[in-house]
Amino acid sequence: MENKRSSFSNTLGFVLAAAGSAVGLGNLWRFPYLAAKYGGGIFILVYLILAVTLGFTLMITEIAIGRRTGLSAINAFQKLDKRFGIIGYLACAASFIITPYYCVIGGWVVKYLITFLTGNVGAAAEEEYYNRFITGSAEPILWFGVFVLFTAVVVMIGVEKGIERASCVLMPVLIVLTVAIALYCVTRPGAMEGVKYYLLPDFSRFSATTVLAAMGQLFYSMSLAMGTMITYGSYMKKEDNLEKSVRQIELFDTALAILAGFMIVPSVFVFSGGNEEALGKGPSLMFVTMPKVFENMKFGSIIGAVFFLLVLFAALTSSISLMETNVSIVCDKWGWSRKRTTALTTVYVLIMGAVISLGYGSLNFIRFLGMGLLDFFDFISNSILMPVIGILTCISIGFFIKPQVVYDEVEINGEFKVKGFYTVMLKWIAPVCLILIVLFAVAEAAGWIQV
Ligand code: TRP
Repeated sequence: MENKRSSFSNTLGFVLAAAGSAVGLGNLWRFPYLAAKYGGGIFILVYLILAVTLGFTLMITEIAIGRRTGLSAINAFQKLDKRFGIIGYLACAASFIITPYYCVIGGWVVKYLITFLTGNVGAAAEEEYYNRFITGSAEPILWFGVFVLFTAVVVMIGVEKGIERASCVLMPVLIVLTVAIALYCVTRPGAMEGVKYYLLPDFSRFSATTVLAAMGQLFYSMSLAMGTMITYGSYMKKEDNLEKSVRQIELFDTALAILAGFMIVPSVFVFSGGNEEALGKGPSLMFVTMPKVFENMKFGSIIGAVFFLLVLFAALTSSISLMETNVSIVCDKWGWSRKRTTALTTVYVLIMGAVISLGYGSLNFIRFLGMGLLDFFDFISNSILMPVIGILTCISIGFFIKPQVVYDEVEINGEFKVKGFYTVMLKWIAPVCLILIVLFAVAEAAGWIQV
């Protein structure tokens, strides 16, 4: 008496939806600030190497598990081997932690879009604008609510009509807008210095931190280790080529991250001459530095509005995938209807998100490990839960469930071209690298090492 599972209608629909999940704030907001902070070219080089090794291995594994079982994370792992249902529960926890705070940042993007649309570039470029906004109470929650409601409507409509259609429109628009703004930015006087910094690897800046930062970013950017790709794989048709689709999704995701850097890093150079402080600004880079850049541009308010519109599109397709991950897990596990599950998940996200948002304002006395609420949730999910899930996935598939499951699924349509490489990555290299990430993250949070 199972409901018939919906699916994406064709390969392009699947690839665009998965790429829509992957491409988001991770690419446009997180990647540029990390690249700027960790030495530009060298960070990109490391990231690229990791993308084609670790990223490829985990993504193909997750999508294969999803398509093989036709289920979302908890049930999928239980079906493959009763003992590993725990991985599904951890993935479920991670996705319930990430979704609310992701939507809080989504709300900030809505706010900046409105600011630019109403022509308030000058105000947005002021030093205090960002802080004043995020520490407020009602306003950030209002925009967060708007963002969540958008997301919920698409998820409620479902896979084929909602998610696929939204991605097929939003993704191509996103690419065109990104290329256009990046071209504009790199052709400004003084931008070439920034392009050089961004592209030429400076090996003296290489360190373990670079690798670890790049690895964390890879998870985040490619929507790995949280069950999202398992869910999306479960909607993939058997006749679609898995290996090729994974390559396309990765290419999409990586290309957009690098393009986003072309918008932001050279602009920072134009604006600040590339001083260390401006480059190391971190999370606020997009919200604080970009408005200043726009203020100094001709047609800045229009370009700024287009920029934030683009960020909003990308964030929406990702938040849709996050909420879909939660909803599909609950629907599969407890047999609730999609409508009811989406409604309840939305209520949960609204409450949690409101609390997280207040974590910058009236609740900022709540601190864990010295971190505010949003940073703490980001840390627990990205730096702890996701690598742990990655390790468990590699070990369970590599040694207990056996990689044959993945080979079979990939070989449904053609040869698995990089099978040997995949197997070594899955069993040995990926788990070791991931264990290093976790140790590093814990050591950093505990203050044993300084970054
Ligand atoms: N990948 C998205 C981004 O780059 C965020 C995201 C969506 C995500 N789904 C995920 C991150 C699942 C981790 C796991 O913004």
